[in-house]
Amino acid sequence: MTPEEFRTYGYAVVDWVAHFLENTRDFPVLPDTKPGELIDILPASGPEEGENFTEILADFEQLIVPRITHWNHPRFLGYFANSSPGEAILAEMLAATLNPNAMLWKSAPAAVELEQVTLDWLRQWIGLSPGWFGQILDTASTSTLHAIIAARVRKGFASMDPRLVLYASSHAHSSVEKGALAAGLARDRVRRIEVDSAYRLRLDSLSAAIEQDLASGLIPFCVIPTIGTTSVASIDPVPGIVSLARQYGLWVHVDCAYGGSVAIAEQYRPLFTGMDEADSCVVNPHKWLFVPMDLSVLYCREARWLRDAFSVVPEYLRTVEDPRALNYHEYGLPLGRRFRSLKLWFVLRAFGRRRLAALIHQQIEDAKWIAAQIAQHPDFEVCAPVEFSLVVFHHKGGDAANDRLLDRIHESGKALLSPNVLDGRKVIRLAIGNIQTTRDDIRMVWDLLQEAAAAGPISTF
Ligand SMILES: Cc1ncc(COP(=O)(O)O)c(C=O)c1O
Repeated sequence: MTPEEFRTYGYAVVDWVAHFLENTRDFPVLPDTKPGELIDILPASGPEEGENFTEILADFEQLIVPRITHWNHPRFLGYFANSSPGEAILAEMLAATLNPNAMLWKSAPAAVELEQVTLDWLRQWIGLSPGWFGQILDTASTSTLHAIIAARVRKGFASMDPRLVLYASSHAHSSVEKGALAAGLARDRVRRIEVDSAYRLRLDSLSAAIEQDLASGLIPFCVIPTIGTTSVASIDPVPGIVSLARQYGLWVHVDCAYGGSVAIAEQYRPLFTGMDEADSCVVNPHKWLFVPMDLSVLYCREARWLRDAFSVVPEYLRTVEDPRALNYHEYGLPLGRRFRSLKLWFVLRAFGRRRLAALIHQQIEDAKWIAAQIAQHPDFEVCAPVEFSLVVFHHKGGDAANDRLLDRIHESGKALLSPNVLDGRKVIRLAIGNIQTTRDDIRMVWDLLQEAAAAGPISTF
C-alpha cells in the first residue's frame, strides 16, 4: 500500500469506525447467521494474486460485520461485557504501526517503560503497595497459569510433584482448573471448596481440606480466592484465606479479573481488603476498565518470584545488564509481547481515575436498579446478592421458561444476556460493563424482559 493509498483507505476506515461508534445501537447485538455460513461463502483457498483493497473492505462490511456478535454494543450484557472506546481503537492502530516487540528493554524501550508506568499507576489506583510488580499478558487464564507455576517454584518444586494440591471455591472460574492442568496438576489435585449462602468460599471447609490433605501426605501449595466470581460476582473472604495460607505456607493468588477495576473507586475499596497481603493477583482491564481485548494484568508481590520460575536467557537475547532495563520475557512464558500498554495509557489518561471510577460506580448503580425492578416483579426473582455490575435472576416459570425468554430477547437483536445454572436451576446473567451503556439501555432491557415474558406462554407448566 502506498502512503497515498493508505491515506485514502485509512480515512475510509476511520469514517466507518466513527459511523459504527455513533450508531452502534442500530446494529443487532447478535447476528442472524448459522454455523459454517461464512466458511461456505468464502473461497476455500487463499488468493494466488493480491486483491483490490476496496473489495476487501467491502467484504468486511458485507460479509464480516453482519456475522459479528457486537461486544461493543451498549446492550451486550452477557458474559462480562467489555468495551472499545475511540481512544483505545486509535491506540491499537498506532501500536500496530510501530509494531515493537516488548520482550526486552532494548527491543522496545518505550513500550517496556510505558508498561511499567501504566501498571504502576493502576497498582496505586487499585490499592496495592509499592513494590508489586506488574506485567501485561493476553488473558486472565494465562495470568493465573503464571501464578500457579510461580507458586509451585516458590514452594521449592522446580518441577511438578503429584503431591501438590491447589484450592479454590466451587465458584472459581474454569481458568483456575485449566491453569492447574496446564501446570501439570492432575484434576483431582484441584480442590473445589464449598461456598456459603452468599457463594463465598467457606474458611472452615478450606482449613478442613488442607488438614485432610496434609494428613494424607499431600502438599498444599496454592489457594485462589476470587473477588467477583463469574457466576454471581461473589467475594471470597480474602483476609481469612490469607491468614490460613500463611499458617500452612500456601501462595495466595487473587482472581479479580472482572472485579479488580472496581477498586479504583474508593468507596468500594473495602471489598478488596486482604488483596495487598496476597502473593499475586490478576485484573483484566479488558473486562471492566474500558480497554479492548486483550489486556490482562498479572501483579506479583515480588518480581523475583516470577523470574525464578520463568527466566531462560539464550545468548541471542542477552543484553547489557542495567538495573533499570527490564527484560519482561524473563518474567513470563511469552517471548514476543505486543505493545498493549499504549491503549491502556491512552484510556487511563483520556478518562482519568475519577471518571473511570464514576463510570464503574454508575454501572453498579444501574445493576442495582434493574435488580430492584426484578425483585419487585411477581414472575421474576433475583438469585444472588448484587455486589458489582452483575445481576443473576430467573423467571419463576422453570428452566424451559428461562431458555425461551433468552431466545426471545436474542431474536429481537436488541440485547444479549447469558445463561447459567445456579444451585441446579437455569438463571440469566446480566452484566453491565460497556462504556456506552446508559440507564435508558438498562430500562429498555427490563421492558424487553417483561414483554418477552408476557408474549405468549413461556412456562412448561
Ligand atoms: C473471574 C474470572 N476469572 C478469569 C476469567 C478468564 O478470563 P480470560 O478470558 O481473560 O482468560 C474470567 C472470564 O470471564 C472471569 O470471570
